[in-house]
Amino acid sequence: MQLIINENHQQSSEQAAKSFAKFIRQNPKAVLGFATGSTPLLLYAKLIEYYQRKELSFQSITAFNLDEYVGIAADNSHSYAYFMQKNLFSNIDILAQNCHIPNGMSTDLELECERYEHLILANKGIDIQLLGIGRNGHIGFNEPASSFEENTHIVNLSPSTLEANSKYFNNQNMPKKAITMGIASILRAKKIILLAEGDDKAKAIKASLTGEITPTMPASILQSHPNVDVYLDQAAASLL
Ligand code: F6R
Repeated sequence: MQLIINENHQQSSEQAAKSFAKFIRQNPKAVLGFATGSTPLLLYAKLIEYYQRKELSFQSITAFNLDEYVGIAADNSHSYAYFMQKNLFSNIDILAQNCHIPNGMSTDLELECERYEHLILANKGIDIQLLGIGRNGHIGFNEPASSFEENTHIVNLSPSTLEANSKYFNNQNMPKKAITMGIASILRAKKIILLAEGDDKAKAIKASLTGEITPTMPASILQSHPNVDVYLDQAAASLL
């Protein structure tokens, strides 16, 4: 694991964006795993900037997102599909058919999980998976006590995650379930980039990077992955 501690999140985002850009230039058909939330926003803005300056093309890449809420359609502004369109996909030259996000509106959610996992495998797996981390140590929506063995599956969101994300739903009608890539799916990525910003992530970062590897702190499993870069701002690193 490579730990990079920066003065601020802007620097972390720029460095992580550089790392993605370098990989894409060397591997134009890269398969990339993306995340939503506030953490990757500056990184996505940087990738868009590279594209606008004609320094990078996403035309042949394939993208897989970590997760999606159940019961929220792609054109609903609360969906992660919408988030990705707005904050990345509609601003770069990635092909629509190469943007994959679990379908939280599927009438057979179990089948949707299987379909998604198979699609990742059919694309020969993810080259670089981007991760944020929840205040409770979740990665994707793999909440504390999730099995490390799971592939893409349906989860009940924990009270801590419901509280953290309810701000996006004006504190009402927040979905209680999501589809998420499992820990096993995430660990199959050849490389993982974890970004964390702010002191509300400091406890989870300390426990995940220096504590015991345990399902009660899902991100702790990253200690077992051979190729992880962790970018932290001072606040997220403050308890290390
Ligand atoms: C998002 C995801 C989550 C977030 C995490 C941090 O696709 O899978 O694990 O990365 O909840 O969220 P933010 O970045 O909003 O603090």
